[in-house]
Amino acid sequence: KRLRPMLLVLSARACGRDKLDLSVYQAAAATELIHMATLIHDDVVDEAATRRGLPTAFALFGKSASVLSGDVMLAKAMDLLARTGSVEVIRAISGAVVAMAEGEVREIETRGDFDLAKSEHFDILRLKTAEFMAACCETGAILAGASEAERRALATYGLHVGMAFQIIDDVLDYAGNPAATGKPQGTDFIEGCATLPLILLRERSNQDQRENLARLFGGARYECDAISTVVRLMRSAGVLDEAERAARAHVTDAVSALRALPENGARQFLEEVTELILARKS
Ligand code: FPP
Ligand code: MG
Repeated sequence: KRLRPMLLVLSARACGRDKLDLSVYQAAAATELIHMATLIHDDVVDEAATRRGLPTAFALFGKSASVLSGDVMLAKAMDLLARTGSVEVIRAISGAVVAMAEGEVREIETRGDFDLAKSEHFDILRLKTAEFMAACCETGAILAGASEAERRALATYGLHVGMAFQIIDDVLDYAGNPAATGKPQGTDFIEGCATLPLILLRERSNQDQRENLARLFGGARYECDAISTVVRLMRSAGVLDEAERAARAHVTDAVSALRALPENGARQFLEEVTELILARKS
Protein backbone atom coordinates (compact mmCIF):
# COMPACT_ATOMS: atom_id res chain seq x y z
CA LYS A 1 0.00 0.00 0.00
CA ARG A 2 2.99 2.30 0.61
CA LEU A 3 0.78 4.27 2.96
CA ARG A 4 3.54 6.00 4.94
CA PRO A 5 5.41 7.50 1.93
CA MET A 6 2.06 8.50 0.45
CA LEU A 7 1.10 10.33 3.66
CA LEU A 8 4.47 12.07 3.69
CA VAL A 9 4.28 13.29 0.07
CA LEU A 10 0.63 14.35 0.39
CA SER A 11 1.43 16.21 3.61
CA ALA A 12 4.14 18.19 1.79
CA ARG A 13 1.71 18.97 -1.05
CA ALA A 14 -1.08 19.87 1.39
CA CYS A 15 1.14 22.66 2.73
CA GLY A 16 0.76 24.32 -0.63
CA ARG A 17 4.00 23.18 -2.28
CA ASP A 18 3.32 21.85 -5.77
CA LYS A 19 6.90 21.46 -6.80
CA LEU A 20 8.57 19.21 -4.26
CA ASP A 21 12.28 18.85 -3.59
CA LEU A 22 14.02 15.52 -4.10
CA SER A 23 14.38 15.47 -0.30
CA VAL A 24 10.63 14.75 0.04
CA TYR A 25 10.99 11.58 -2.03
CA GLN A 26 14.18 10.57 -0.21
CA ALA A 27 12.38 10.85 3.12
CA ALA A 28 9.33 9.04 1.70
CA ALA A 29 11.49 6.11 0.53
CA ALA A 30 13.16 6.04 3.95
CA THR A 31 9.80 5.62 5.71
CA GLU A 32 8.87 2.59 3.59
CA LEU A 33 12.29 1.03 4.26
CA ILE A 34 11.83 1.60 8.00
CA HIS A 35 8.34 0.13 7.85
CA MET A 36 9.66 -2.99 6.08
CA ALA A 37 12.49 -3.30 8.63
CA THR A 38 10.02 -3.21 11.52
CA LEU A 39 7.83 -5.88 9.87
CA ILE A 40 10.83 -8.15 9.27
CA HIS A 41 11.87 -7.73 12.91
CA ASP A 42 8.26 -8.14 14.09
CA ASP A 43 8.01 -11.46 12.22
CA VAL A 44 11.16 -12.64 14.01
CA VAL A 45 9.71 -11.61 17.40
CA ASP A 46 6.39 -13.35 16.56
CA GLU A 47 8.05 -16.29 14.76
CA ALA A 48 5.49 -15.59 12.02
CA ALA A 49 5.34 -17.88 8.98
CA THR A 50 3.31 -15.73 6.55
CA ARG A 51 3.25 -12.04 5.57
CA ARG A 52 1.52 -10.53 2.54
CA GLY A 53 0.53 -14.04 1.48
CA LEU A 54 4.15 -15.17 1.22
CA PRO A 55 6.63 -16.88 3.56
CA THR A 56 8.27 -14.37 5.91
CA ALA A 57 12.01 -13.64 5.79
CA PHE A 58 12.13 -15.41 9.17
CA ALA A 59 10.59 -18.57 7.65
CA LEU A 60 12.88 -18.48 4.61
CA PHE A 61 16.21 -17.33 6.04
CA GLY A 62 15.95 -17.73 9.82
CA LYS A 63 16.40 -15.37 12.73
CA SER A 64 19.93 -14.01 12.26
CA ALA A 65 19.70 -13.21 8.54
CA SER A 66 16.29 -11.57 9.07
CA VAL A 67 17.43 -9.37 11.94
CA LEU A 68 20.49 -8.32 9.97
CA SER A 69 18.55 -7.55 6.77
CA GLY A 70 16.15 -5.43 8.83
CA ASP A 71 19.23 -3.63 10.20
CA VAL A 72 20.50 -3.02 6.66
CA MET A 73 17.16 -1.47 5.67
CA LEU A 74 17.26 0.72 8.75
CA ALA A 75 20.81 1.88 7.89
CA LYS A 76 19.83 2.60 4.27
CA ALA A 77 16.87 4.60 5.55
CA MET A 78 19.20 6.62 7.81
CA ASP A 79 21.41 7.32 4.78
CA LEU A 80 18.39 8.63 2.81
CA LEU A 81 17.28 10.77 5.77
CA ALA A 82 20.78 12.25 6.05
CA ARG A 83 20.62 13.15 2.35
CA THR A 84 17.56 15.34 3.04
CA GLY A 85 19.94 17.57 5.02
CA SER A 86 17.29 18.19 7.66
CA VAL A 87 18.24 17.54 11.27
CA GLU A 88 14.59 18.12 12.24
CA VAL A 89 13.46 15.30 9.95
CA ILE A 90 16.11 12.94 11.34
CA ARG A 91 14.96 13.80 14.88
CA ALA A 92 11.24 13.34 14.09
CA ILE A 93 11.72 9.96 12.40
CA SER A 94 14.25 8.58 14.89
CA GLY A 95 11.96 9.56 17.77
CA ALA A 96 9.19 7.53 16.13
CA VAL A 97 11.51 4.53 15.62
CA VAL A 98 12.35 4.59 19.34
CA ALA A 99 8.60 4.76 20.08
CA MET A 100 7.96 1.72 17.83
CA ALA A 101 10.58 -0.31 19.69
CA GLU A 102 9.06 0.73 23.04
CA GLY A 103 5.58 -0.19 21.78
CA GLU A 104 6.82 -3.59 20.63
CA VAL A 105 8.53 -4.25 23.98
CA ARG A 106 5.41 -3.24 25.92
CA GLU A 107 3.33 -5.53 23.71
CA ILE A 108 5.72 -8.42 24.43
CA GLU A 109 5.73 -7.66 28.17
CA THR A 110 1.92 -7.64 28.36
CA ARG A 111 1.46 -10.70 26.17
CA GLY A 112 -0.83 -13.26 27.78
CA ASP A 113 -2.50 -10.62 29.98
CA PHE A 114 -6.20 -11.26 29.38
CA ASP A 115 -7.08 -8.31 31.66
CA LEU A 116 -4.88 -5.77 29.86
CA ALA A 117 -6.22 -2.27 30.60
CA LYS A 118 -7.72 -0.45 27.65
CA SER A 119 -5.54 2.61 28.36
CA GLU A 120 -2.35 0.49 28.23
CA HIS A 121 -3.57 -1.08 24.98
CA PHE A 122 -4.17 2.35 23.41
CA ASP A 123 -0.71 3.49 24.58
CA ILE A 124 0.82 0.50 22.81
CA LEU A 125 -1.08 1.31 19.58
CA ARG A 126 0.11 4.89 19.73
CA LEU A 127 3.74 3.89 20.27
CA LYS A 128 3.82 0.96 17.85
CA THR A 129 1.93 2.48 14.90
CA ALA A 130 0.49 5.97 15.31
CA GLU A 131 3.61 7.94 16.26
CA PHE A 132 5.39 6.81 13.13
CA MET A 133 2.51 7.90 10.88
CA ALA A 134 2.47 11.22 12.76
CA ALA A 135 6.21 11.59 12.09
CA CYS A 136 5.70 10.80 8.37
CA CYS A 137 3.11 13.57 8.04
CA GLU A 138 5.20 15.98 10.11
CA THR A 139 8.24 15.22 7.92
CA GLY A 140 6.27 16.19 4.80
CA ALA A 141 5.38 19.47 6.51
CA ILE A 142 8.99 20.15 7.61
CA LEU A 143 10.38 19.54 4.11
CA ALA A 144 7.70 21.77 2.57
CA GLY A 145 8.79 24.61 4.88
CA ALA A 146 5.37 24.68 6.56
CA SER A 147 4.38 26.88 9.49
CA GLU A 148 4.44 25.55 13.06
CA ALA A 149 0.62 25.34 13.04
CA GLU A 150 0.54 23.32 9.79
CA ARG A 151 3.24 21.03 11.11
CA ARG A 152 1.27 20.39 14.33
CA ALA A 153 -1.98 19.85 12.39
CA LEU A 154 -0.40 17.23 10.14
CA ALA A 155 1.22 15.44 13.08
CA THR A 156 -2.20 15.30 14.80
CA TYR A 157 -3.79 14.04 11.58
CA GLY A 158 -1.12 11.30 11.27
CA LEU A 159 -1.52 10.26 14.91
CA HIS A 160 -5.28 9.72 14.54
CA VAL A 161 -4.90 8.02 11.15
CA GLY A 162 -2.37 5.68 12.77
CA MET A 163 -4.73 4.83 15.64
CA ALA A 164 -7.58 4.15 13.18
CA PHE A 165 -5.28 2.08 10.96
CA GLN A 166 -4.11 -0.15 13.81
CA ILE A 167 -7.63 -0.62 15.26
CA ILE A 168 -8.83 -1.78 11.81
CA ASP A 169 -5.75 -4.03 11.57
CA ASP A 170 -6.77 -5.64 14.85
CA VAL A 171 -10.39 -6.09 13.67
CA LEU A 172 -9.09 -7.72 10.46
CA ASP A 173 -6.97 -10.07 12.55
CA TYR A 174 -10.23 -11.61 13.81
CA ALA A 175 -12.72 -10.92 11.04
CA GLY A 176 -10.59 -10.50 7.91
CA ASN A 177 -10.23 -12.99 5.09
CA PRO A 178 -6.69 -14.48 5.22
CA ALA A 179 -6.64 -14.57 1.40
CA ALA A 180 -6.98 -10.76 1.45
CA THR A 181 -4.93 -9.89 4.55
CA GLY A 182 -2.13 -12.29 3.62
CA LYS A 183 -1.89 -13.30 7.31
CA PRO A 184 -3.50 -16.17 9.22
CA GLN A 185 -6.71 -15.40 11.14
CA GLY A 186 -6.78 -15.01 14.92
CA THR A 187 -3.05 -14.60 15.43
CA ASP A 188 -3.48 -11.97 18.16
CA PHE A 189 -5.70 -14.31 20.20
CA ILE A 190 -3.38 -17.29 19.73
CA GLU A 191 -0.36 -15.18 20.73
CA GLY A 192 -2.16 -13.82 23.80
CA CYS A 193 -2.19 -10.27 22.49
CA ALA A 194 -5.27 -8.46 23.83
CA THR A 195 -6.55 -5.97 21.24
CA LEU A 196 -9.68 -3.81 21.19
CA PRO A 197 -12.17 -6.45 19.90
CA LEU A 198 -11.17 -8.83 22.71
CA ILE A 199 -11.07 -6.10 25.38
CA LEU A 200 -14.62 -5.06 24.39
CA LEU A 201 -15.82 -8.68 24.35
CA ARG A 202 -14.32 -9.19 27.81
CA GLU A 203 -16.19 -6.11 29.07
CA ARG A 204 -19.49 -7.46 27.68
CA SER A 205 -19.05 -10.99 29.12
CA ASN A 206 -20.24 -12.49 32.40
CA GLN A 207 -17.92 -14.25 34.84
CA ASP A 208 -18.31 -17.72 33.22
CA GLN A 209 -17.81 -16.40 29.69
CA ARG A 210 -14.74 -14.44 30.80
CA GLU A 211 -13.21 -17.55 32.41
CA ASN A 212 -13.81 -19.57 29.24
CA LEU A 213 -12.23 -16.90 27.05
CA ALA A 214 -9.27 -16.51 29.40
CA ARG A 215 -8.68 -20.29 29.30
CA LEU A 216 -8.48 -20.30 25.50
CA PHE A 217 -6.55 -17.00 25.22
CA GLY A 218 -2.87 -17.35 24.35
CA GLY A 219 -2.96 -21.11 24.00
CA ALA A 220 -5.36 -21.91 21.22
CA ARG A 221 -2.80 -22.93 18.62
CA TYR A 222 -4.08 -26.50 18.52
CA GLU A 223 -7.73 -25.73 19.18
CA CYS A 224 -8.77 -24.89 15.65
CA ASP A 225 -12.39 -24.15 16.65
CA ALA A 226 -11.37 -21.56 19.24
CA ILE A 227 -10.95 -18.68 16.79
CA SER A 228 -14.28 -19.29 15.01
CA THR A 229 -16.01 -19.49 18.42
CA VAL A 230 -14.42 -16.22 19.55
CA VAL A 231 -15.30 -14.47 16.26
CA ARG A 232 -18.92 -15.71 16.57
CA LEU A 233 -19.10 -14.32 20.12
CA MET A 234 -17.61 -11.02 18.90
CA ARG A 235 -20.18 -10.74 16.12
CA SER A 236 -23.15 -11.43 18.39
CA ALA A 237 -21.88 -8.99 21.03
CA GLY A 238 -21.42 -6.33 18.30
CA VAL A 239 -17.85 -5.58 19.41
CA LEU A 240 -16.34 -5.69 15.90
CA ASP A 241 -18.71 -2.90 14.88
CA GLU A 242 -17.90 -1.05 18.08
CA ALA A 243 -14.16 -1.26 17.36
CA GLU A 244 -14.84 0.07 13.86
CA ARG A 245 -16.75 2.98 15.43
CA ALA A 246 -13.70 3.70 17.63
CA ALA A 247 -11.57 3.80 14.46
CA ARG A 248 -14.12 6.14 12.84
CA ALA A 249 -13.91 8.50 15.83
CA HIS A 250 -10.15 8.79 15.24
CA VAL A 251 -10.79 9.49 11.55
CA THR A 252 -13.17 12.30 12.53
CA ASP A 253 -10.42 13.85 14.70
CA ALA A 254 -7.88 13.35 11.89
CA VAL A 255 -10.09 15.16 9.38
CA SER A 256 -10.78 18.03 11.83
CA ALA A 257 -7.04 18.58 12.23
CA LEU A 258 -6.77 19.17 8.47
CA ARG A 259 -8.86 22.34 8.79
CA ALA A 260 -5.69 24.24 9.74
CA LEU A 261 -4.35 23.69 6.20
CA PRO A 262 -5.15 25.55 2.99
CA GLU A 263 -7.93 23.95 0.92
CA ASN A 264 -6.33 22.12 -1.98
CA GLY A 265 -6.33 18.78 -3.81
CA ALA A 266 -3.76 17.16 -1.51
CA ARG A 267 -5.74 18.10 1.61
CA GLN A 268 -8.83 16.63 -0.06
CA PHE A 269 -6.91 13.42 -0.82
CA LEU A 270 -5.67 13.19 2.79
CA GLU A 271 -9.32 13.38 3.83
CA GLU A 272 -10.34 10.63 1.37
CA VAL A 273 -7.50 8.34 2.42
CA THR A 274 -9.11 8.04 5.86
CA GLU A 275 -12.19 6.40 4.28
CA LEU A 276 -9.98 3.88 2.47
CA ILE A 277 -8.34 3.04 5.79
CA LEU A 278 -11.71 2.36 7.41
CA ALA A 279 -12.94 0.28 4.46
CA ARG A 280 -9.77 -1.69 3.86
CA LYS A 281 -9.88 -5.48 3.73
CA SER A 282 -6.14 -6.09 3.41
C1 FPP B 1 3.41 -4.80 13.40
O1 FPP B 1 2.33 -4.83 14.28
C2 FPP B 1 4.60 -4.20 14.08
C3 FPP B 1 4.82 -2.90 14.30
C4 FPP B 1 3.86 -1.87 13.86
C5 FPP B 1 6.04 -2.38 15.01
C6 FPP B 1 7.19 -3.34 15.05
C7 FPP B 1 8.36 -2.70 15.74
C8 FPP B 1 9.52 -3.32 15.99
C9 FPP B 1 9.79 -4.72 15.60
C10 FPP B 1 10.58 -2.59 16.75
C11 FPP B 1 11.33 -1.57 15.95
C12 FPP B 1 12.09 -2.18 14.82
C13 FPP B 1 13.03 -1.50 14.07
C14 FPP B 1 13.65 -2.12 12.86
C15 FPP B 1 13.46 -0.16 14.43
P1 FPP B 1 1.41 -6.11 14.41
O2 FPP B 1 2.19 -7.23 15.00
O3 FPP B 1 0.17 -5.70 15.11
O4 FPP B 1 1.01 -6.35 12.91
P2 FPP B 1 1.02 -7.71 12.08
O5 FPP B 1 -0.26 -8.37 12.44
O6 FPP B 1 1.04 -7.22 10.65
O7 FPP B 1 2.23 -8.49 12.46
MG1 MG C 1 2.97 -9.02 14.26
